[in-house]
Amino acid sequence: MLKKITVINGPNLNLLGSRKPEVYGNTSLDEIVSSLRKRAAELGYTIAAVQTNAEGAYVNAVQSAADDSVGLIVNAAAYSHTSVAIRDALENLKIPVVEVHLSNIYAREDFRHHSYISAVASGVIAGFGPLSYYLALEALAEILKHS
Ligand code: DQA
Repeated sequence: MLKKITVINGPNLNLLGSRKPEVYGNTSLDEIVSSLRKRAAELGYTIAAVQTNAEGAYVNAVQSAADDSVGLIVNAAAYSHTSVAIRDALENLKIPVVEVHLSNIYAREDFRHHSYISAVASGVIAGFGPLSYYLALEALAEILKHS
C-alpha cells in the first residue's frame, strides 16, 4: 500500500481560482490537489487532501493525520498568523511537516510576516503560487527518504 501524505488547507482556500487572482493565481484547489496526486504517485505516495474553514476542524485534521500519515503539507492560511491551537497540534506530531503559502507572506502586510506554524515545521515554502505545494512535496519526499 502507498504511504499517505496529508495536505491540510485552511480558510478561504476553497475559493482558489476566483479569490484575489492577482495574489493567489487562477488555479483551483482541486487542480492543485490533482497535480500533487500525480507527482505523489510517481514518488510512491498517496495524497489525502483536507480543506476546512474552521480552526477546530483544522486541529482535528492534524490529529487524525498523526494516526495514518507519514508527513504533512500544511497551508493554515489566515490561521497561520493567529492560531496557537493549530501550532500546538502540529508540535505534537512525530511526522515531518512542511508549511506552504501560495503568496510571499513576507512581501505583504506586516500581520502576515509572522506564522505560528513555522517554528514547528521542518521548513517553509512561500511565494511560488501552486508551485509552493509541489516544492513542498519534493521536500517532504526527500526528508522521508532520509528518516
Ligand atoms: C496564504 C497567506 C495568508 O496570509 C492568507 O491569509 C491566506 C493564504 C497563502 O497561501 O498565501 O489565506 O496562506
